[in-house]
Amino acid sequence: MVNRMHKRLLIPGPTEVSAEMLREQTRPLIGHRAQEFTDLYVGIIKKLHDFFQLSENYQVTVTTSSGTLWFDIVGRSIVKEDALACTNGAFSERFGKAVQGCGKNVDLLEVEWGKAVKPEMIADKLGSGEYDTLTICHNETSTGVRNPIYKIGKMMKKDFPNVMLTIDSISGMVGDKLLPSEIGCDVIFASTQKCFALPPGLAIGIVSDQALNRAREVQNRGLYTNLVHLFDYYEKKHQTPFTPNIALLYALDKRLDLLLEETADGVYKRHLAMAEYTRNWAQKHLALFPEPGYESVTVTCVKNTSGKGVKELNEELAKRHYMISNGYGKLREQTFRIGHMGEWTLDGIKEVLRHIEDIWGFEK
Ligand SMILES: Cc1ncc(COP(=O)(O)O)c(C=O)c1O
Repeated sequence: MVNRMHKRLLIPGPTEVSAEMLREQTRPLIGHRAQEFTDLYVGIIKKLHDFFQLSENYQVTVTTSSGTLWFDIVGRSIVKEDALACTNGAFSERFGKAVQGCGKNVDLLEVEWGKAVKPEMIADKLGSGEYDTLTICHNETSTGVRNPIYKIGKMMKKDFPNVMLTIDSISGMVGDKLLPSEIGCDVIFASTQKCFALPPGLAIGIVSDQALNRAREVQNRGLYTNLVHLFDYYEKKHQTPFTPNIALLYALDKRLDLLLEETADGVYKRHLAMAEYTRNWAQKHLALFPEPGYESVTVTCVKNTSGKGVKELNEELAKRHYMISNGYGKLREQTFRIGHMGEWTLDGIKEVLRHIEDIWGFEK
């Protein structure tokens, strides 16, 4: 049934979820120790391998959690003693704090919000030889900045092969084309409520063999955060060690079929088209917040030069059944964000931008 009050979500997560995906979750439950579950879960793992074109030295898992669990997994299972946390926004700052909260030493490579973290900045810091792990956010949802993760991966593989490269791509993965084997990263993760266009509740984590070997050497990995247990259990039983969100796994299974049909390239191109259109629109009427050349493919952060309130804009948009996002934290008033991810298409984005033009009286 259509909910006439529903506002279609263009916030940078959770994004809009189709009725089809919501329906997938209503299938009868199965036991998580039954063969039927094994079949479902092994199928999902295989589809994830295929979609991300993983080479043999990578493994993938699905945790019943939001993406933030993976901050703690990195802090507990990957960092031995010292991490360098690259920060250029709210989420990357949170990643560093989480690792510190796991009892590890964390130094910051602080970059101004809105600017990107560049490989040479990292190389400069890692040159001290102090660090065993690097944390970075690929797609800083708070600022709409996309860090050059392929270049960073290439540099680290060449110059710092023993430093674990751990990446939060919670709002980028799938929409942006991220092939872990090509990036050469060690841990990369995302949540289902972003570009997978599913409800929140699952996180997808991709891990290199090197990272798993590292985890075996790290003490006090906890339980839910123990990467070794997670993968050893899968190898033995082809199931998850703890009770998973089975309903959401049904939906993920279906989502992966659709993604494989569209192909990683196709999904990326659709997201890029939405991002480019939104950026051009923002530059025509307002301005962009991120450093030029480093704009996200899944969320556009617009500098609000209109002098008008984003809260009032969202109230008007709500009457038209849409919802965008204000700026994050200290950028609340200065910016607003449009999340063009998941199942959104260019036509849908054009429509919402036309509504904003109409509400704010922009020239068409
Ligand atoms: C870049 C980034 N990291 C981390 C998070 C937190 O993810 P979750 O709410 O799935 O734990 C978000 C959520 O918006 C995010 O965008």
